[in-house]
Amino acid sequence: MNSFIEKVDFFKGNSVESIVKEYGTPLYVYNEDILRDRMHNVSQIITKYEFHSNYSIKANTNFTILKTALSEGLYADAMSTGEMMMLLKAGFPAEKIFFVSNNVGADELQFAIDNNIMVSLDSLSQLELFGSLNKGGKCAVRINPGVGAGHHEKVVTAGKKTKFAVAEEDIDKIFEIADKYDLKIAGINQHVGSLFMDPEPFLQAVKNFLRIAKKFENLEFIDFGGGYGIPYHKLDDEQDFPMESFKAEFEKLIDEFVAEYGYAPLFKTEPGRYCVAESCVLLGRVHSTKQNSGVKYVGTDVGMNVLVRPSMYDSWHDIEIIRDDKVVSRDNLVEQTVTGNICESGDLLAKNRMLPESKVGDIAAVLDAGAYGYAMCSSYNSRPRPAEVMICSDGSVKLIRRRETFDDLFRLFEV
Ligand code: LLP
Repeated sequence: MNSFIEKVDFFKGNSVESIVKEYGTPLYVYNEDILRDRMHNVSQIITKYEFHSNYSIKANTNFTILKTALSEGLYADAMSTGEMMMLLKAGFPAEKIFFVSNNVGADELQFAIDNNIMVSLDSLSQLELFGSLNKGGKCAVRINPGVGAGHHEKVVTAGKKTKFAVAEEDIDKIFEIADKYDLKIAGINQHVGSLFMDPEPFLQAVKNFLRIAKKFENLEFIDFGGGYGIPYHKLDDEQDFPMESFKAEFEKLIDEFVAEYGYAPLFKTEPGRYCVAESCVLLGRVHSTKQNSGVKYVGTDVGMNVLVRPSMYDSWHDIEIIRDDKVVSRDNLVEQTVTGNICESGDLLAKNRMLPESKVGDIAAVLDAGAYGYAMCSSYNSRPRPAEVMICSDGSVKLIRRRETFDDLFRLFEV
């Protein structure tokens, strides 16, 4: 593909230069149509049984995005008190929120209990804590299905090497703790890891998980977690996650389970990245170019403070170059290393990347930046965090989070 931006008319006819003139760079720009399309897709993963897709808000907590998820019929999962508060503030009723906790204190569990939010506990000791706070209550337990998957070892959350979930061999202890505190284990959940393009390991985990599920009586819900991938190498024609064939395989496993279990509990999933990643292009300005020991460096204002994924996981994000409001053709490519403006050698956005030759003043448009982009950004090097805008379905451009100011940075100090 020569240009994703042109193929989908990402900016809907708006001039990129006028957008950055008004809002500055670096700038996260979302496209509402793409966002709604992906959110709609995940709401339809299972259609035969009662099913909820919980948007995993850790990928992106922008209020406008949360409200869009709500209007697309999604439920949500939260990882912290802050995320639960964001969801409540965005208008999610408590019964649409699932708190998938990990190593939390009594105060976080108490917040969920007080707000009638369903909680998943991820160890026996946390189940004890929950039981002591909420005798006779209801909760879920996160189980390790024994198989993990993901784009980097840092994001694999099941299998042998992980801090997450309760192992299958400890299931009897779950029942003992539940008896002790008169708890109802209403649901079980898993999450194998983030970003798989091949559904096979996930389906294997589902198989194991459903085998384990049969050890629990009267389950109200079973939550399979998230992790569905998106094509980060789309300019090299990487294909989408095979949602249609995946759905068919998934449904087969669920059919078999329902036949044996005797009834269908509510089924859930927790996609984050799939919902938001592709709906966002991150715009940065090329401020300098230079040659160091034979390497051509392109210096932008998209540092690791703005998008940390490449420095943290060596993640790949496609980049398009925009000059005079037009995407520069990829007919002639030159090897370049795209960096940010942070005082670290690891501040690399793309290493030895074949790109159109970049010039000072160009816009570097970083694709697929909507998931774990703004959510993981920081004000490192005292650079205020960027703004976010939405290209709405009607073509209008709306500011959905203002740029952080220097005053915002100073506000926490007693000076
Ligand atoms: N459910 C649970 C319990 C999770 O821990 C996660 C992500 C999700 C759902 C959503 O996963 P998704 O569908 O987005 O893959 N910062 C990393 C990804 C970390 C994911 C953490 N957990 C990255 O930028 O790739």
